Amino acid sequence: MSFHIPEEKINQILHTADIGEVVSQYVQLKKAGKDSAGLCPFHSEKTPSFTVSHGKQIFYCFGCGMGGNVYRFLMEYNGMTFVEAVRFLAGKYNIDIPEKSLSHEEETRISQRERLLSLNRQAADFFAANLNNSQVGRIASAYLEKRGISQNAIKSFGLGYAPDKWDRLLKYFSSKKVDPGQLEAAGLIISRKDSSGYYDRFRNRIIFPIIDAQMRVIGFGGRVMDDSLPKYLNTPETLLYHKSQSLYGMDIAKRKCRETRTVHVVEGYMDVIKLSQHGVENAVATLGTALTSDHVRLLNNFADRLVLVYDSDPAGIKAASRSADILAQASDARILATLPAGYDPDDYVSKFGPESFLDLAEKAPGIVSFMMDQAVAHHGLSVKGRVRIISEMKNVLSSIQDRIERGLYIKELAERIKVDEKAVLEVVYRKETEKRRSPDYGKSTFQPQIPAQLPTPIRDVVPQSGRINNSLSVGAGVSPFEDRHRMEKDIIAMMLQRPDIIPEIDRRNILALFINADLKAIGQSLVGHPDAPASDLFSDDGPKERVVAELVIMDYQWKEDGYMGLISQFESSHRRHENLRLQERIEAAENENNQQLLLELLKEKQIQASQGYA
Ligand code: UTP
Ligand code: MN
Repeated sequence: MSFHIPEEKINQILHTADIGEVVSQYVQLKKAGKDSAGLCPFHSEKTPSFTVSHGKQIFYCFGCGMGGNVYRFLMEYNGMTFVEAVRFLAGKYNIDIPEKSLSHEEETRISQRERLLSLNRQAADFFAANLNNSQVGRIASAYLEKRGISQNAIKSFGLGYAPDKWDRLLKYFSSKKVDPGQLEAAGLIISRKDSSGYYDRFRNRIIFPIIDAQMRVIGFGGRVMDDSLPKYLNTPETLLYHKSQSLYGMDIAKRKCRETRTVHVVEGYMDVIKLSQHGVENAVATLGTALTSDHVRLLNNFADRLVLVYDSDPAGIKAASRSADILAQASDARILATLPAGYDPDDYVSKFGPESFLDLAEKAPGIVSFMMDQAVAHHGLSVKGRVRIISEMKNVLSSIQDRIERGLYIKELAERIKVDEKAVLEVVYRKETEKRRSPDYGKSTFQPQIPAQLPTPIRDVVPQSGRINNSLSVGAGVSPFEDRHRMEKDIIAMMLQRPDIIPEIDRRNILALFINADLKAIGQSLVGHPDAPASDLFSDDGPKERVVAELVIMDYQWKEDGYMGLISQFESSHRRHENLRLQERIEAAENENNQQLLLELLKEKQIQASQGYA
């Protein structure tokens, strides 16, 4: 989305706002030296590792790695977009944002959104009032009671009832002089075929308002109270409602998701409400559609672990498998497919209680183990079966963004079905290349790091971003690379603290040797703006911003001449690394009997040697 607030306004607001003041509205902070600390709102903890630096105007959590400037805090904490965070602070600090730069077309689109949101909000109130009405809402209330929905849940989910007439909503709005064209655009009414007028979309149905994380009513679901069809009717695609991006229950779920860093993704409206009513508030539902990248991206803002709850019938399992590569975009995806046959989460939690449900969720296997189990059970271990298994697994494996984790799974699969690890590596690598060429590549949240030339052996891997929170990536025999990663971080930390060394880094072209793309980009931007305050860096790029926040907050102390030592150490480690890498490629070429590649590599080795590489 493009935004229309002038850059200098964004900076003015950033420099006027005080991060300590803003954060302490949401988090209890205690002074600790020149910084403040508190319990992190982004993961659950008992001792404070969430730190705010007043001097640098940055926050950072040592526990979960979340960090950034005050905009980032608001975006992550409140689920605001960048523009919303800017506007929020502008309001708080009384700074006017000139809106003139909006084109006419943009202006109409934005005000149209706002109009539709207002209509939806009014419609939700209208439906709720009907349910509350002892006459009109009698049958609907009885239905909800029969389904075991509590009064509390009715209130917090804003449930309502659409009367059994063709024009109740229409009349309600026409008394308010609302243009029917607008109601149609909101999906609330439908134009008659002979264009003689309109009629209400939702009639004689229980109404479930679909409310997003910013508490906006973006659409509705409506359920019949008998066996007629369709059972559920949803708002069609509108300016506000896109089912591939919307989740039911996000408004209620987000708090518990933040607290537990876990979200349960279920299929139905009723599942969400019942789970929530039983204390499992961190549940959301996709709305008559499979999980999409957009859903996962949204959920990644609120949770690390995503538990997909599917019916354990074959159709459910198939659906879960189809979602596998989408799911792999969550940092810790699980599949719960062990509810007894015929039970959905609503039935299950009502009968067996929330502890039992959470216990199953806790035990749910990770996506790769799940798929391996399914594939092995399905295809068996004959030669043909094993080929099929690899082919079935390559999609999900190539979607895992953490290359160390991916490597470990490839190894596990290879051992389990007794095939050569290299063969699996190659299939997965080819799948990745194929995906990279497809036009959809890059649309999803994650950007796989593509190996330079060959399928990369496990140890030749660098964590993708500064946020190394994956337990698998620690202590997995990757020390040379962790070492390099640490050095790269040290160099950037140094640059942030000592702008005077930046010209030397630039002169020696040190950044060109960086492996980690984020760190490299941060370094390059520091070379471009050596005096920019750290809180200005990358406020449009969460992962990079977190790295900057981490490095600034760490506040490393350097000996006066320590930095030169670090630079030379880094240069020589780079040479060792290049050498090792080349050696591995040579061995691989030998193993594959690829004479031509081998020749090229040997030539390269000669050049390296002549340049004094070890
Ligand atoms: P289900 O048929 O499993 O219904 O559809 P449910 O959620 O268990 O609802 P109850 O318990 O019978 O009331 C699962 C979800 O699929 C979507 C809805 O989001 C529903 O909650 N769906 C289903 C539709 O969008 N339209 C339909 O006609 C049916
Ligand atoms: Mn159900």
